[in-house]
Amino acid sequence: MLRIGVVGAGGMGNVHTRHWKNMPDVELQFFELDPERRDTFAKSHGLKPAASYEELLNWADAVDICLPTDAHHATALQAIAAGRHVLCEKPMAIDVAQCDQMMTAADKAGVTLMPAQVVRYFADFKHAHELVANGAVGNPVTARTRRGGKAPVGSAGWFQDASRSGGVLLDLAVHDFDWLRWTLGEVKSVSARSVRLTNPQALAGKPGDYALTTLQFDSGAIAHVEATWLDPSGFRTTLEVCGDEGMIEFDSRKTATLRRHNEEGSQVESPLLPSDDPYYNQGRAFVETVTGKRPAPVTALDGLRAVQIARAAIESCQTRQTVRL
Ligand SMILES: NC(=O)c1ccc[n+]([C@@H]2O[C@H](COP(=O)([O-])OP(=O)(O)OC[C@H]3O[C@@H](n4cnc5c(N)ncnc54)[C@H](O)[C@@H]3O)[C@@H](O)[C@H]2O)c1
Repeated sequence: MLRIGVVGAGGMGNVHTRHWKNMPDVELQFFELDPERRDTFAKSHGLKPAASYEELLNWADAVDICLPTDAHHATALQAIAAGRHVLCEKPMAIDVAQCDQMMTAADKAGVTLMPAQVVRYFADFKHAHELVANGAVGNPVTARTRRGGKAPVGSAGWFQDASRSGGVLLDLAVHDFDWLRWTLGEVKSVSARSVRLTNPQALAGKPGDYALTTLQFDSGAIAHVEATWLDPSGFRTTLEVCGDEGMIEFDSRKTATLRRHNEEGSQVESPLLPSDDPYYNQGRAFVETVTGKRPAPVTALDGLRAVQIARAAIESCQTRQTVRL
C-alpha cells in the first residue's frame, strides 16, 4: 500500500482523488486549509482530513500537491525535507529558481519529484508524440497548438492574479510548451505577445488573457502556440505538426462524439473507462515510479524546462524582444 496525502481539495484535488480511489494499492488522506472545502471534500470522497500539513506528512509516503501554483515550492520543499515523494501539479513552480531549488532538494534527498504535465498522458497527444517520433511526418519542421476556454477563477480568484498563477502563459501554455519540447526537442528562442502583458489597458479590471508564442527549436523547427482565457465557448485543444513527408492534426471538439445538451450548457459524455483517463495514467506512472517499477516518465528537469519556456514567453511579452534560452 502506498500512502498518498492529497494537499488542496479544490478542482485538481478532486480530479486526482477520483482516480486515486480507483487504485487498490493506494491509501489516501488529505489536507485542506479552507474548512468548508475540507468538509465537502471529506464527505464526497469519504476521506479523513489531516489536522495539519505536518500530520499529513507524518502519515504519508508521498504527497500530491494540488495547490495554487505560488504554494507549490514551499509545500514541496517541506515534503522533500521529510523524505516524502512528490507529485506536483503543473506548472512545477512560479519561476525557474523555485523549480531548481525543488529539483536539487529532491535529488539530494533521493525522492521522486514528478511534475504533473498531464498532457503527455492524453491518448491523442501521446499517440501524436509517438507518430512524430516514429517518422510519420518525416522530419518535423512546424507545429501549431491552441489551448483554452473561459478564464478560470479558482479559490480566492488566484488564477487571475499573475503573481500567483503566472497568467495564461505559465498556467495554460505550459502544457503545450512541455509537449512540444518533448516532441521536437530543446527550444532555442521564444517570442510572444499577450493581450494582458503586451497591452495592459486591453483587459483592465477584467479576467482573461490571450497569448501567441513562437518557439524556435535547436532542430530548426518552429512552433506557434496559442493560449486563450477569452473563449466563452468552452475548453478546446488543437494540434498540428507538419514535416517534409506529411502532417498530423487533432481537434478536441472533433473527437468527442457523444454530447449531452441542456439549459446549463453542453457536456461531453466520455465513453472512456477510468483506466483510459490521462489523470489515472499519470497517477499510475507516479505510483510505479516511487515503488521502483519504472523510471519517472516526466522528470523534475522536464517541469523546470517547461516553466523556463513560459517565463521566457512572459519576458518577451514585457520587453517585446525575442528571448534566447
Ligand atoms: N493539469 C490540469 O489539467 C490542471 C487544471 C487546472 C489546474 N491545474 C493546476 O492545479 C493546481 C491547483 O489548481 P486548482 O484548479 O485545483 O485550484 P483550486 O483553487 O480549485 O484549489 C486549490 C485548493 O487549495 C487550497 N489551499 C490553498 N492553499 C493551501 C494550503 N497551503 N494548504 C492546504 N490547502 C490549501 C484552497 O483552499 C483550494 O481548495 C494549480 O497549480 C493549477 O495550475 C492543473
